[in-house]
Amino acid sequence: MQLAMIEDRVIPYAELEPVYLDRGTFFGDGVYEVIRSYHGRLFALEEHLARFERSLREVGITGVDIADVRRRVQETFDRASIVNAKVYFHITRGAGDRNHAVAGEMRPRFFLTVMDLADKPANKQNGISVSTFPDWRWKRCDIKSLNLLPNVLGKMDADKKGCAEAILVNEAGEVTEGSSSAIFLVRGGGREIVTRPLGPDILPSITRAVVERLAAEAGVRVVEEAFRPDQAKAAEEVFLAVTTQDIVPVVRFDGVQVGAGRPGACTRRLVDVFVDYVRCGK
Ligand code: PDD
Repeated sequence: MQLAMIEDRVIPYAELEPVYLDRGTFFGDGVYEVIRSYHGRLFALEEHLARFERSLREVGITGVDIADVRRRVQETFDRASIVNAKVYFHITRGAGDRNHAVAGEMRPRFFLTVMDLADKPANKQNGISVSTFPDWRWKRCDIKSLNLLPNVLGKMDADKKGCAEAILVNEAGEVTEGSSSAIFLVRGGGREIVTRPLGPDILPSITRAVVERLAAEAGVRVVEEAFRPDQAKAAEEVFLAVTTQDIVPVVRFDGVQVGAGRPGACTRRLVDVFVDYVRCGK
């Protein structure tokens, strides 16, 4: 008789609920998104849906109607009535016997949560410390896939060092991105921000794109080029960009003080511009 065990409970294999046979659990075979709301409105919903659709396409998960995803996201968000919410959702390729090969048509499985998004005002006010970690990820980091073990290991290492984020460094010694954020440097007396160009080695962060646009509109030059950790340590300012916290100043990088050791003028200005932008209901 085929059996399964869940914690200490043995049950017939045939009675397993599909959730235990999800390819997301077995293989990380799925893609996800994280969206947030400001002032009761979902922020950059269409950009996130477009990235999600691309992730699905790139891993060949078919049979998903993006209009349906939009409806599910919006409906659950509306029902939750949370003003500042974090909406997480993923789609896995399906559920079935553990087998790397996909047997026939699978039904993609959808999962979503809407939760309170706790603001971290101290991070914004005082800045955070970050530490570097080897970028052990695969070669398609532009896909927002459920395979996050290297990111998780990086974050755990940072946490052990009292840091809020791990900055991933590739084999060429260049910074790629944070374990769950994009990273920018400030130079040129606060008139220039620098971030790695898009490519298969980083996620096309939505926040990064918004920051680039707002910075350009505010007269700050946006430069896309690779940089190394020593350039980050020596930068005038460093900041992270991520959906859940928008812009976060970095004041220590691998134990070295960045700039004056407090959020710099350019970063603070961009934070203000971002706050104004989301207040206008974008
Ligand atoms: N992470 N880079 C990585 C590897 C990320 O996981 C994220 C976001 C970002 C920032 O992307 P965006 O601006 O679109 O949020 C960059 C989400 C929040 C997460 O995994 O929870």
